[in-house]
Formats: sequence, C-alpha cells, structure tokens
Amino acid sequence: MFNQSMPQPTFYMLKCEVPKNPNFPKPACVTAENRDLFQYMAGKIMEKGIMGAVQPVQSGCLNRCSLGPVMLIEPGHFMYVGLNKEKIDKIIDEHIMGGTPVEEFLIPKEAWSEALSIEQALKMAGR
Ligand code: FES
Repeated sequence: MFNQSMPQPTFYMLKCEVPKNPNFPKPACVTAENRDLFQYMAGKIMEKGIMGAVQPVQSGCLNRCSLGPVMLIEPGHFMYVGLNKEKIDKIIDEHIMGGTPVEEFLIPKEAWSEALSIEQALKMAGR
C-alpha cells in the first residue's frame, strides 16, 4: 500500500505508436520520419515541469490511421491529427497549460462525430 496519497493526472496524452508496416499498404502513425514524436512529447512535458499532472501514454491504434500521427487527450476526447513537433509544442502550451484546445489541429468533425454508446454498439453487433 501507499504511505502517502498519490494524485492522479489531470490529463492523459495518448499518442498512437503503431509503426507503418512496409509490406502493407495500410497507413499507420509511426514512420521513419516521425518515430521520435513520443519521446519529444514526453521530453517537453518534463521540460515544462508538468509531468505527473500530465501522463504521456504510448497507445495502440486509435482507429484514425489515415490521419496520423494522431494523439487523444483525455479528459474530453480531443483527437489531434497530422502531428509534428511544432503542433505538439502548441498543444502543450495552449491546451494543456492554457486550457484552450487548439481547434485547427483537431480531427475534422466528420471523422469524429458523437460517441457511440454501449447500447448502439450492442445493437450494431446484433446483441
Ligand atoms: S495506426 Fe495510429 S490510429 Fe491507427
């Protein structure tokens, strides 16, 4: 057990870390050109002194592969797409530290409509 309380993070930054398979045509988020993005993001969080309040997470496929590299910020279901280092800097400064999501880097609404409920998913699965 813990001897002192451990605060939970305010934000989780889930960066898709699925690598592109050169033998498959399917797009993926991590390529030779951008494979350092997660480490860059984690380094920036450390540099800003906000690690602990912000938890970077290497995730599996977030199912928006063609818009990669992608990252989901929770709470709020904020999906950022087409990431690069400059965008990550701005997302940390404005969304995480400033409290204002960076609208121009968010996924287009038609690719991120209302959340699917459990009831809807069960119905679609015929259950
Ligand atoms: S490979 Fe990154 S969202 Fe699917």
